[in-house]
Amino acid sequence: MVKPGSKLRKPWLLIPVQIAHAIGPMALKLSGLFKKPATYQWKPLQWKGLFFENPLGVAGGFDKNADLASSLWKYGPGFIEVGTVTPMPQQQNPGVVVGRCQKHQALWNCLGFPNKGLEDFQKQLQSFKRPYKTPLFINVGKNRNTSEAEAHKDYIKCIKTLEPFADVFVINISSPNTKGLRKLLEPKNLSSFLNKVLTSKKPTLLKLSPDMTNEDILSVISTSHEAGVDGWILTNTTTQRLPSMSFPTDRGGVSGAPLQQRSIECLKLVSKELEAKSINKLLISVGGVSSHKDIEERLNSGAQLVQAYSSLIFDGLGFFKKMHQEFTQQN
Ligand SMILES: Cc1cc2nc3c(=O)[nH]c(=O)nc-3n(C[C@H](O)[C@H](O)[C@H](O)COP(=O)(O)O)c2cc1C
Repeated sequence: MVKPGSKLRKPWLLIPVQIAHAIGPMALKLSGLFKKPATYQWKPLQWKGLFFENPLGVAGGFDKNADLASSLWKYGPGFIEVGTVTPMPQQQNPGVVVGRCQKHQALWNCLGFPNKGLEDFQKQLQSFKRPYKTPLFINVGKNRNTSEAEAHKDYIKCIKTLEPFADVFVINISSPNTKGLRKLLEPKNLSSFLNKVLTSKKPTLLKLSPDMTNEDILSVISTSHEAGVDGWILTNTTTQRLPSMSFPTDRGGVSGAPLQQRSIECLKLVSKELEAKSINKLLISVGGVSSHKDIEERLNSGAQLVQAYSSLIFDGLGFFKKMHQEFTQQN
C-alpha cells in the first residue's frame, strides 16, 4: 500500500529539484489547459472593495512572470500574488539556486529575482480579462545592478507601469537573495524610501523579513504605518537553518516547515502591536502554512489572509482543494 505522504503519491517529488524547477511551469501551463475551473468558498473576506472567496493565496515568487496565473486560478486559490518583477529582465544568480529537503518539508532558494522584466510582465497582464477570477497582487522589486540609493526608481517604474493591472501592490525589500536589498528595511533608509515609492492609488503592502529582531520589526511597522502602507505580509524566507538541512550553500533563504514557528511569532507580535495602537490594517501570514489547523491558528492570531508556496510544491496544487475539504470537515 502507498502511504499518504509518500513520494509515490506525489511523483513530482521523485524528480531532482533543479529539473522540477525548470519544467514545473510548463507542466502547470499544460495541466491548466485540461483543468476544470474550481472555486472554493470558505471564510470569505471583503477588503477595500476586493472580494476573496477564501483566505488562502499563492505566495510571491511562485508565478514570477505572471504567465501561470491563468492556470493557477483554475485550482481555486482565494488570491494570487505575481512577481517579483523588476524593470529589466534578469537571470537567476549563478550556480545551484534551489533545494528541497523532504525530511524537514523545507525549500531553499537563492534565485535573486529571475524574471522576464517589466515589458513582458505587462504584456502578460494585458492578456487577462477583468474581472479577474480572484484579486491579483503584484510583487515588485529592484534589479540586482541597481544601487540601494537608486532602488526607489525601480519600484516606482514597476508600480507606475502596472498600476492599471494591480488590485494590490507588494513591496519586496525583504528577500535575502539580492545583495543589499534588506538594507532598505533599516530605520535610516525605510522612511525616505517608502515616501518616494508609495505613489499608487492601489492598496500597497510591505513584505517583511523573519530575520529582523522583534524590536526592528516593530520599528518597521511603525515607520511604514506612518508612511502610509495598507498592510504587511509576514514573512519572506529566512537565512536561519537547522544544521541537519543539507542545502548546497549557506547563502539563500529557507521556507516551509522550519519557518513556521518564526512566521507565527512575527504575526502575533505585529498583531498585538496593531491592536494596542488601534491600527486596522491588513495582515497576511506566510511561512510554513501547511494544514487547515495552521490556517485557523493564523486567522485567530490576527491575519485576515494567508499564503503558501512550499506546500504547493510538497502537496501540489490540490492543496487548495485539500484545505477547503479540511475546513468543511471541521465546520
Ligand atoms: C523558490 C522560491 C522563490 C521565491 N521567490 C520569491 C519572490 O520572488 N518574491 C517574494 O516576495 N517571495 C518569494 N519567495 C518567498 C515566498 O513568497 C514565501 O514568503 C516563503 O517561501 C515562505 O512561505 P512558504 O513557507 O509557504 O514557502 C520565494 C520562495 C521560494 C521557495
